[in-house]
Amino acid sequence: MNPPRTDARRHHDPEVRGFASDNYAGAHPEVLAALALANGGHQVAYGEDAYTENLQQVIRSHFGPTAEAFPVFNGTGANVVALQAVTDRWGAVICAESAHINVDEGGAPERVGGIKLLTVPTPDGKLTPELIDREAYGWDDEHRAMPQVVSIAQATELGTVYTPDEIRAICEHAHAHGMKVHVDGSRLANAAATLDVPLRTFTNAVGVDLLSLGGTKNGALFGEAVVVLDPDGIKHMKHLRKLSMQLASKMRFVSVQLEALLARDLWLRNARHANEMAQRLAEGVRAVHGVEILYPVQANAVFARLPHDVSERLQKRFRFYFWDEAAGDVRWMCAFDTTEDDVDRFVAALKEETAR
Ligand SMILES: Cc1ncc(COP(=O)(O)O)c(C=O)c1O
Repeated sequence: MNPPRTDARRHHDPEVRGFASDNYAGAHPEVLAALALANGGHQVAYGEDAYTENLQQVIRSHFGPTAEAFPVFNGTGANVVALQAVTDRWGAVICAESAHINVDEGGAPERVGGIKLLTVPTPDGKLTPELIDREAYGWDDEHRAMPQVVSIAQATELGTVYTPDEIRAICEHAHAHGMKVHVDGSRLANAAATLDVPLRTFTNAVGVDLLSLGGTKNGALFGEAVVVLDPDGIKHMKHLRKLSMQLASKMRFVSVQLEALLARDLWLRNARHANEMAQRLAEGVRAVHGVEILYPVQANAVFARLPHDVSERLQKRFRFYFWDEAAGDVRWMCAFDTTEDDVDRFVAALKEETAR
């Protein structure tokens, strides 16, 4: 069948890719095919459609019979909705200082969710029970926001991955203090690919209460979901999602994307590939004199420190961001569509620029 005619024109070169963000990538063709499949006819709006209903089964196949998905537009929205669901008006969330909810969401958890964040510096983006204890106190003190939730990211903002045992220890510790555990799983698929275990092994099986499940970085056009794993004490999600402006009227188009990723193995194929490209990149970078890799490369990100002028010259050839410009730290991200050739050309360019 011929593709439908359009008056739109292409405004970019589809062969150009950089290392700035896994969000710079387009959507996976299988996701686009699923969207086309879901198009046509009328379906009930606001989530009462057949695609959202089917998504629930897909989610339960990954996370067990009590899991329920609430599709949303984006990751910030997922985090804000999820965290509001488990905090009272006087509640606080303990998270890593480097957490996306703290540094990259424009203050939305605080300003939109009304949630106090209690942040803890970490060496590698990962919390531990000991680090949590720096902020886990004073539940009876009305002068202090009450710690009610621990939020971790898997994979973390610094490209590191928790083992299932590490998450279990966090959950046991948090639950012993009456706190719930939220996982920002914007890159949950990348973590599963690294650990080589099912998604449930490091989420509900070890005590995680709810999570923000990523789709966008995994090959979706857009779309994530709050997944409530243990509904005990988590109510009114539907109302919170609407109140937080995250309720899609044409929800079938969010749900079908998540179904396309998660029903079979597209989520894993995409994540594995992105992770493999990051490993290839790290290997190449390690051989370049004057470039230091900052954290273990455990997902699809490589953080490195290099001379500022080298980064600036390299940025003229490939897009990427400084992470801490004063320190000379940069972040290089791989996506599901990063090719071996992209990585090899980037490493060759890095070698050329450091040798100048
Ligand atoms: C760890 C993490 N959480 C959440 C998000 C989602 O953010 P957005 O609101 O841009 O979809 C991101 C995106 O970069 C992220 O890296």
